[in-house]
Amino acid sequence: MVGYSDVLIGLQNGDEGKARIIDQLAEDYDIIARFGGGPNAWHTIQKEQRKIALHQIPSGVFYPDKELYVGSGCVVNLEKLVAEMEELTKLDIDLTSRLHISSQATLIQPHHVLIDQEAGKEIGTTMNGIGPVYADRAMRIYGNRVLNIRLGDLVHDFDLALRQILDNLGTRSKLSTSDIRKIVDGFKQSFDKIFPFVEKDTLFLDSRVRNGKNVLFEGAQSFMLDVVKGTVPYVTSSQTVAGHAYVGGDLSPRYHRKVIGVAKAIMSRVGNGPFVSELGGKKSEKYCMEEGGRAHVKSVESSLAVSEMLLSQDEFEVGIALRVLGDEYGASTGRPRRMGILDLVQLAYAVRINGVDDLYLNKCDRLRDFSDSHIQGIPVVTDYLLEGRAIDYVPGSSAEYCRVMPSRTVFPGFNTSISERRTTADIPKELKHLLTYIEDRCGCKIKGIGVGPVRDQFIHF
Ligand code: IMP
Repeated sequence: MVGYSDVLIGLQNGDEGKARIIDQLAEDYDIIARFGGGPNAWHTIQKEQRKIALHQIPSGVFYPDKELYVGSGCVVNLEKLVAEMEELTKLDIDLTSRLHISSQATLIQPHHVLIDQEAGKEIGTTMNGIGPVYADRAMRIYGNRVLNIRLGDLVHDFDLALRQILDNLGTRSKLSTSDIRKIVDGFKQSFDKIFPFVEKDTLFLDSRVRNGKNVLFEGAQSFMLDVVKGTVPYVTSSQTVAGHAYVGGDLSPRYHRKVIGVAKAIMSRVGNGPFVSELGGKKSEKYCMEEGGRAHVKSVESSLAVSEMLLSQDEFEVGIALRVLGDEYGASTGRPRRMGILDLVQLAYAVRINGVDDLYLNKCDRLRDFSDSHIQGIPVVTDYLLEGRAIDYVPGSSAEYCRVMPSRTVFPGFNTSISERRTTADIPKELKHLLTYIEDRCGCKIKGIGVGPVRDQFIHF
């Protein structure tokens, strides 16, 4: 019997908790596959006392019988990949014969990172060279310099690829002999470790699925960060929409079964760019991005008087309190995430464009925090007005998107902790009411909600 494939993506601005949903669903699949992005991704899974942050390796690592595939739509940083694999080895997670990286995936070269460090500040990129590497992939060649180097090129003729990498780097910085030796040695060492995982068979997934294996495509970044569909130019440089899984993931859409979308009940965004439902609006964006996000890190904000801030009439302060309570900080950098209320116009739009069948909503436990605020209920964006006209879509110009006037509805709140609840019967009636509203509004079924950060703090519907 032939297998099938499902696609899981984040529907908002990233950090919706995709990895924990994949971790929950992985049991039902044979292969977990990535189709875009690279080390800019940050997928955290918390299992008992173990917290794993995955960047380039697909989630599903906790299941030793699952294969992991990195598709041709991904970009790879060899050194960082080796470091990530070593972290997993320390946790006794063995990737031998499990991890397959497409030989068509593009290599992130040192000059890509240098360019990003110079040019990525305005967007607030992760400085991983993502924009420059995807730009070079499209540019292909410049004069006699080959810009797009793929893992297959390293396998085919390592010395030639290395000369090309050094040529490209030489255009950005003057290299001494010792610099060159360091780079060459670094690449050699990393590539020796990655070489066994490079998958030369470009029909790898197709053959597996034809033989009955089921694939779960794991989206990185999220829908609103898509390089075409998102809040351009404040986006990543890959395509994150569900449809792209079948391009960057190296499988024909013939095997597609359903799309799984992940959102969170209180939204966040890192980096600059439009965020219609942001608490505190522009003030919050400026504050969170001060000194590139380093001015108000987790350690600084954790000493704030959160209960008082939550009660403030100034929603900028409410946003800060929600960030502290929800631990909404970059996992490695501690940088603050901008906070906003659930935007149902944006969510319904994301569901339509991506064809979402099943919806998972994380962080529902945190909705209770609104009961301790002056809002006294759960605020949700339910309508957009653009120049006095109601719209149900995200405008094609981000400048225009910033002019949208959101209107909100406050739904009845609940003020008890739900983190220890595990069944649908235990969900407060106010939350049930909101979930039903979301389903009707978005036209898809909610299949589960997160009620805390730990793996089992989850209710399946
Ligand atoms: P880049 O992908 O590093 O070029 O960053 C472009 C934008 O996408 C920046 O605003 C980043 O903060 C954001 N971004 C990239 N990856 C992620 C992610 O995994 N979660 C959330 N935001 C991300």
